[in-house]
Amino acid sequence: MPPTRIIIDTDPGIDDALALILAFASPELSVEAITTVAGNVAVSQATRNACLLLDVVGPHLRPSVAKGAAHPMTRPLRTAQHYHGEDGLGNLSRFKAEGGMLRYPEPQQLLSPQSAQALMIEQIGAAPGEIVLICIGPLTNLAMAIRTAPAEMAKVKEIIVMGGAIQAPGNVTPAAEFNVHTDPEAASLVFASGLPITLVPLDVTQRVLLTAELVDTLVRHVGSHVTQFVRDTTERLFGVEKEQTGRAATPLHDPLAIGAVIDPSLVTRRPFDVQVETGEGPAQGMTIADRRQVGGQWKRPPNLQVCMEVDAGRFVALFLERICRLPA
Ligand code: BDR
Ligand code: CA
Repeated sequence: MPPTRIIIDTDPGIDDALALILAFASPELSVEAITTVAGNVAVSQATRNACLLLDVVGPHLRPSVAKGAAHPMTRPLRTAQHYHGEDGLGNLSRFKAEGGMLRYPEPQQLLSPQSAQALMIEQIGAAPGEIVLICIGPLTNLAMAIRTAPAEMAKVKEIIVMGGAIQAPGNVTPAAEFNVHTDPEAASLVFASGLPITLVPLDVTQRVLLTAELVDTLVRHVGSHVTQFVRDTTERLFGVEKEQTGRAATPLHDPLAIGAVIDPSLVTRRPFDVQVETGEGPAQGMTIADRRQVGGQWKRPPNLQVCMEVDAGRFVALFLERICRLPA
């Protein structure tokens, strides 16, 4: 089987960085492009972080990196730096290499001259039915691409979205998940597009946990540049999680969206009609799935496939195994 061609739309973000590592370590996937969006951090920082990650992983073929939207469609950006660190990657400048140099120097990668939206439209339009788009940040770039070029974007093979909370509570407010809450208008437009979308919500992502203990074991047994990076980028986050939840463990939200493409049998999907609350107030960004047990004629047809179950043990094992594969 040839690898699945993917574009990753991302706002790195610690779990975004882990998702990128998983994608590059997986022979089932060919990462054709990385597009960046404002979310966890400002878009310039997200773009820098995507390039830094490429330096850490050093893939044979470097995908293009294209910068995207600087703010949500109609609202100001509210970042998540309290969680991901000032730099979005756990404050990496505190780590020094021998000789006092930065362990993670400023990345040098050249950016694509195209915008994220233009690159998505061009690559998807040029390969009908071939490209899977994996969105692991707010949906601003995708919404704008669909609005600008609906016919080209309809050539996408599948869209995987990490976002939303169906039965689980939210993570940024009691009702809403971060990616949807950041740009609810974009999520609403994307969900209404009629494109083939799989949603990977908190209901499943919060069940796949990376613990500080697992990361320590990884570094002890493998000791590669990549495992060192995983430890450095998660170290501060485990402190934040310990304070918030009492456990030094972080959900692998974005990596699970990659996992659902590597091995679709890791998750169980169910079709639902899902609407997004775009009003102000406590339900802003809430994803409301029609779970009523009534005949189809009484409700709107499903617009999304929603992952409701995950084989958590198998996914975490896959994640760890893949991270160990990357060369030192
Ligand atoms: C999502 O929010 C972000 O902080 C993470 O990177 C992930 O994409 C989880 O709600
Ligand atoms: Ca993200």
